[in-house]
Amino acid sequence: MKKVTIGIILLVMASLVLMTGCGSNATNNTTENSEPNAANDAKKPEDTEGSGKEKVVNVFTARHYDVDSLLYEEFTKQTGIKVNEIKGTAEELVERLKREGESSEADLFVTVDGGVLNYAKQNDVLQPIESETVKQNVPEQWRDKDNNWVGVATRARVIVYAKDRVKPEELSTYEDLATDKWKGKLLARSSTSLYNQSLVASFVELNGEQKTEEWAKGIVNNFARGPEGGDRDQAKAIAAKVGDVAIMNTYYVGQMLNSKDAEEVKVAENIGVFFPNQDTTGTHLNISGVGLTKHTKNKENAIKLIEFLTGKEGQTILTQGSFEFPVNQAAEKPELLTAWGEFKSQQIDYAKLGDHNKKATEILNKVGWK
Ligand code: FE2
Repeated sequence: MKKVTIGIILLVMASLVLMTGCGSNATNNTTENSEPNAANDAKKPEDTEGSGKEKVVNVFTARHYDVDSLLYEEFTKQTGIKVNEIKGTAEELVERLKREGESSEADLFVTVDGGVLNYAKQNDVLQPIESETVKQNVPEQWRDKDNNWVGVATRARVIVYAKDRVKPEELSTYEDLATDKWKGKLLARSSTSLYNQSLVASFVELNGEQKTEEWAKGIVNNFARGPEGGDRDQAKAIAAKVGDVAIMNTYYVGQMLNSKDAEEVKVAENIGVFFPNQDTTGTHLNISGVGLTKHTKNKENAIKLIEFLTGKEGQTILTQGSFEFPVNQAAEKPELLTAWGEFKSQQIDYAKLGDHNKKATEILNKVGWK
């Protein structure tokens, strides 16, 4: 193994100690369950217009993984450019970009959902990222067609199951989860989670509104309990035999397997990961990405940071730390992700997830998915 790789892995292992991933609370409809940090919210981005001042990039971010800070620190170490993270929900941050307009100090907008990235674009708070390096780092499918944003990681929303009670052969599709076979056995978090909204939005796009509503009704009928907690809590409920199968993002499994909490490790060891819809529409993927703000005052440095985040080293640190899938194929993935193998994913335009968000939440409310 190369020296640099070992260095990266050590760095990431150190970060795992700090890693918290997503909390378990439900949120409003355009954000992930980030836990707003009062100190960070209050932090003022730095103005670096003019010369002689410290070089910075101000990042408005709705992501909440400790590996991000590790990435920014590494970037600073290599370039001398300081990164200020200003956290908030995606909705809050887009509103702030709109409200502050030209006086905004934000250089980058980072968030976890393709629909939200597009929402920012539609609200005219972004501008094209002009960089050949970024284009080479990230395949076209993970870039906005006008280059207003670019993906940094993808995340699969899969089915996890109790290894001791369910055989993978019994699993097949998301649609199958809505059949009587799983009555009283299914677990999922609240419909206020953007993850579930985007999943349902993808079905609206692929299967139409009526079929999606029937599916959601079937899912609610099969719940082992009312939706509660975050994705990790569904895995814990499987371990507690509350239910046998759950809808969950893959990276939580990786994070739990590498958790400092022995109980989490045990839970994750006893669940299997199943990529549904391999013979049909593919597994639902969501994208986390970064946009260049329209009124950035540190454009050159901001683009440098995007190049770092999407480059081989940045992508290796990211995937080793968060267990998300890298967008740059040159990244060195954790063994777990390699072991899961290749899988077929939904082929849809990520902008559509945002377009169908309203319809998706209407359906979820109508069928009583709390
Ligand atoms: Fe998350």
